[in-house]
Amino acid sequence: MSSLNLQVDGFLDGVLHRLLAGGADASVEEEVAALRAAWPGRTTSLSPVEGKRLPASDHLASALERAAKGEGADIGHAIAGLAEALSWTYSYPTNLRDRDLSSKVAFAQIAGRSGLRTDTDIHVGLTLIAPHVVYPAHRHPAVELYLVVSGTALWQCGEIEPATRAPGSIILHPSNVVHAMTTFEEPLLAVWTWRGDLVSPSIYVNMQTEAHAS
Ligand SMILES: [Fe+2]
Repeated sequence: MSSLNLQVDGFLDGVLHRLLAGGADASVEEEVAALRAAWPGRTTSLSPVEGKRLPASDHLASALERAAKGEGADIGHAIAGLAEALSWTYSYPTNLRDRDLSSKVAFAQIAGRSGLRTDTDIHVGLTLIAPHVVYPAHRHPAVELYLVVSGTALWQCGEIEPATRAPGSIILHPSNVVHAMTTFEEPLLAVWTWRGDLVSPSIYVNMQTEAHAS
């Protein structure tokens, strides 16, 4: 078995362990139980994905340095082992409120249709957001969990009062509920999971309009 395969196993084991330990409320626990049932197995093969950087992925090193000193140390260590193989992407259409988001936000899939570990039941990946960036309101049919690894950011999700979330936090974005994040002086590095409709894309929306429409 290749060392990259072992690194992916270590990352996935660490994330699942964290999720199982950290469910602060019933809705998170319910989603973690569903993820656990579909969690990528060890026997699936690695896809040959070439590492690819984006401007935002330049923040990975400083995010991992911060992670090493805090709640995200274990996952940060596992991510560091995968860093060279990560293929960072940004596939949203241009956002009219910030036409330069493609240089500030980046995603890397680790398990999934285009991940290092092929999986069609759930997706597991990373989000990296540069400092002082608004990752605008968006929604998608997939149920999403975020596990913050490094950086404290402001989180907005549906009608819930906006709140800052520190490393170690687990945040649930239910299907089609609008959410947004704002970074401050630190980059945000987080693990995300998608379950359910893995095909329909995420779309940018107007948070106020959507919140009052439902
Ligand atoms: Fe999302």
